[in-house]
Amino acid sequence: MKPFITLGIESSCDETSVAVIADGTVIRSNIISSQLEQHAKFGGVVPEIAARCHLEAVLPIYRLALAEAGITLEEVDLIAATYGPGLIGSLLVGLSFAKGLALAKKIPFIGVNHIEGHIYANILERPEVKPPLVCLTVSGGHTDLLYLEKWGSYRILGRTRDDAAGEAFDKVARVLGLGYPGGPQIDRIAREAADDLEFVQPKGFGGNYDFSFSGLKTAVINYLHRQKQLGEAVDSARVAASFQRQAVAQLTSRLFKAVDDLGVRTILLSGGVAANSKLRQVCLAEAERRGIRCLYPPLTLCTDNAAMIAAAGYFRFQSEGPSDLEITAQPDLCL
Ligand code: KG4
Ligand code: ZN
Repeated sequence: MKPFITLGIESSCDETSVAVIADGTVIRSNIISSQLEQHAKFGGVVPEIAARCHLEAVLPIYRLALAEAGITLEEVDLIAATYGPGLIGSLLVGLSFAKGLALAKKIPFIGVNHIEGHIYANILERPEVKPPLVCLTVSGGHTDLLYLEKWGSYRILGRTRDDAAGEAFDKVARVLGLGYPGGPQIDRIAREAADDLEFVQPKGFGGNYDFSFSGLKTAVINYLHRQKQLGEAVDSARVAASFQRQAVAQLTSRLFKAVDDLGVRTILLSGGVAANSKLRQVCLAEAERRGIRCLYPPLTLCTDNAAMIAAAGYFRFQSEGPSDLEITAQPDLCL
């Protein structure tokens, strides 16, 4: 039987990506064009530059994705594109492109929530993963602890009260002069370093699952100021490793409290920060200790890509049918 082909399009931040997947989980192509170099000198994503770059990239990336998958648009059964959350100008490029294709060729269209996309990165090439499960979604814009009783239904157990986890990594990297995006840089220099510094953080939130990273970030900044005032040298790798240990400890303490409270046997990590080696290592060890499964996507599928958008779109389409073509970009879209 002919496989069901979904074309996915992602342009919510600074990656233009187009993917082709078969039957919701098999990747035929997943082309990702990063704008990192255009933004690096500004120390973060510049929204207008991002939108212009998407506009230049989307057509060639789309052509490459079809060519690599060995198909034509006529063979596509569904077009899925991110409609939020993200930068408005960036979202509009991918979304408008996708709607244009769908309209011209009368192909069903579905708008996808980017955060849901990150969660579905876990079932690409691994369709056997099944709820009930707890999922920690940690990216540059989001930090959500979710309970999934079944696919597509989310109970939010906790979320960040201030900075997202990835945002905290990026900000600490910036004050350490490590460049953008900072998460991978912190991860890299922390590998061989001592992580013994204690940055004093505000107390937790009375047993609930919420997160807060701005206190930790401020404690790191205060430490750096103090060292400067005292004329003491700063060991950036030690600061990075100590920050990372404390950030990961906060994430994993909430995650495993939820696992114990709810009695689930499967946990998923998703989003860019799920690429963090320390987070993966601690989660695997804790999961092994409890005899449960801890899964996370391969590195390339942790950060933004269109294959995860196609997967999320495919499954939502199966249960709810297509979106209205009137759908518009929603920068603040929640799960
Ligand atoms: O999911 P993503 O590509 O984009 C958003 O939806 O935000 O996540 C990007 C975030 C950035 O903050 C980046 O610094 C962080 O993920 N990140 C990491 C690592 N790789 C990417 N943070 C910590 N360790 C990493 N290895
Ligand atoms: Zn993302």
